[in-house]
Amino acid sequence: MSMIEFRNEPFTDFTVPANARAMESALQSVKAGLGRAYPLYIDGEAVFTERTSDSKNPGQTSQVVGVVSQADKTLAENAMRAARYAFETWRFVEPSVRAGYLFKAAAIMRRRKFEYAAWLVYEVGKNWAEADADVAEAIDFLEFYGREAIRLGQDQPLVPLPGEDNRLTYIPLGVGIVISPWNFPLAIMAGMTSAAIATGNTVLLKPASTSPVIAAKFVELMREVGLPAGVLNFVPGSGAEIGDYLVDHPHTRFVSFTGSRDVGLRIHERLGKTHPGQLWIKRLVAEMGGKDGIVVDASADPEEAATAIVQSAFGFQGQKCSAGSRAIVHQDVYDDVLRRIVEKTKALAVGLPETNAAIGPVIDERAYEKILDYIEIGKTEGRLVAGGGKAAGEGYYIEPTVFAEVASGARIMQEEIFGPVLAVCRAESFKQAVDIFNNTEYGLTGAVFSSDRSQLEYARRHMHCGNLYFNRKCTGALVGVHPFGGFNMSGTDSKAGGRDYLQLFLQAKVVSEKL
Ligand code: NAD
Ligand code: ALA
Repeated sequence: MSMIEFRNEPFTDFTVPANARAMESALQSVKAGLGRAYPLYIDGEAVFTERTSDSKNPGQTSQVVGVVSQADKTLAENAMRAARYAFETWRFVEPSVRAGYLFKAAAIMRRRKFEYAAWLVYEVGKNWAEADADVAEAIDFLEFYGREAIRLGQDQPLVPLPGEDNRLTYIPLGVGIVISPWNFPLAIMAGMTSAAIATGNTVLLKPASTSPVIAAKFVELMREVGLPAGVLNFVPGSGAEIGDYLVDHPHTRFVSFTGSRDVGLRIHERLGKTHPGQLWIKRLVAEMGGKDGIVVDASADPEEAATAIVQSAFGFQGQKCSAGSRAIVHQDVYDDVLRRIVEKTKALAVGLPETNAAIGPVIDERAYEKILDYIEIGKTEGRLVAGGGKAAGEGYYIEPTVFAEVASGARIMQEEIFGPVLAVCRAESFKQAVDIFNNTEYGLTGAVFSSDRSQLEYARRHMHCGNLYFNRKCTGALVGVHPFGGFNMSGTDSKAGGRDYLQLFLQAKVVSEKL
């Protein structure tokens, strides 16, 4: 089977008037459809429940984006039964046929790119470019994992032995629980789900409770392309209630999780317990938090470094696992780089995502309070040089905030804040800057600005993180180009969007026949 080579979906240039008009028109038509009720989907059937949860626009909290049915343990059990039943046929479907559903979904998503982006603007408060990048990444995952499933569906190379026919094939695992985060609520959710499905597993999808509507849109899309009943079951609900239940379930074969360190560790611990009727060691793919940073060497271009630091710290309000929440700057260029960071931060407009303001709201009240608490902590740990509190608006708006002269061990240098807060730390030497960078329990992304090859090579060897970038920002990994995943408490380094990723959803079977 020949196929067009994978290429990343291009980002939309909103300075082109036709693109801006298309986005405005998508926002208007999506706005007209806000507030609809969304069911669960179990075994292909829509199930509306009495208990519902409102998904609200964090940038305008009176606006209800959708009213979403909630799974309880009984419904989760029904979904598990449906997924187990569907697995018995889905696992034997040819990989190219399974991939076909992903390719069809990608084609439709590409046609409706502005519409999906508009849902992200309303549901999680992304500005246009951030929303567009999320949709582009979702399309990339569908295209990339479809191709990967076909590649891994072929017989794999083995050393030949005369007199025997030996074959190694990858077979699926079983029923998986996909537990997704709200910060890339389309891309990561669609990527985790499509990887599991393309490899022949069946899925119970539990989206984050602040972004269930975009997940429902994806499930509707998979129904539209004709995915057989029971392969993808949609069970939004409380993480604490059905999350634990599904993780503990004896028929759960694997959990694919992306979210915070604490929830990831809880799942890891619970998966270690064997329950009556369980036949396997459950597998976990867990991608968790980050305390990422950018190191600036004395030889760096200060303007480029400051631009990248501000982009990495404040893109989507700092709510990325990859966000560069620490800047570690060589003392020789510290004052210059800091001045530029402050200037650029103060120039960022805060406002309603619908109007495409650079900085929108944070996701919900809990995050809002937590981030404001960290800002107060920051005031005791560093010198406030930009922002420092709430911003105006009918939502969870916080000023992009910068603290200078923060010590390596300070809480705002150590703990994931997941909001628009940047800590800047002074280093006496490049080596010390690298040590400060490594002084964290996380290890997801990092960047170095330097024009000195020997420093870059030192960083290549010594900076301990899954995705390290030279002379560019530390956010914005591209599918296939920058396989993504972190070390230590950042997770299992699954390298989403890479050639190793789908093997996490497969097991290898060898059949040896004497000739
Ligand atoms: P979270 O851990 O609060 O929630 C993630 C998911 O887990 C949600 O669907 C939630 O409902 C569910 N959950 C909560 N309690 C559960 C339980 N007891 N059992 C099972 N599931 C449960 O994280 P979040 O706030 O949605 O996302 C932000 C976090 O995700 C940040 O820490 C961020 O760094 C991380 N993240 C990591 C990556 C990565 O690739 N490493 C990517 C995106 C986000
Ligand atoms: N993959 C996303 C990034 O690199 C999280 O920013």
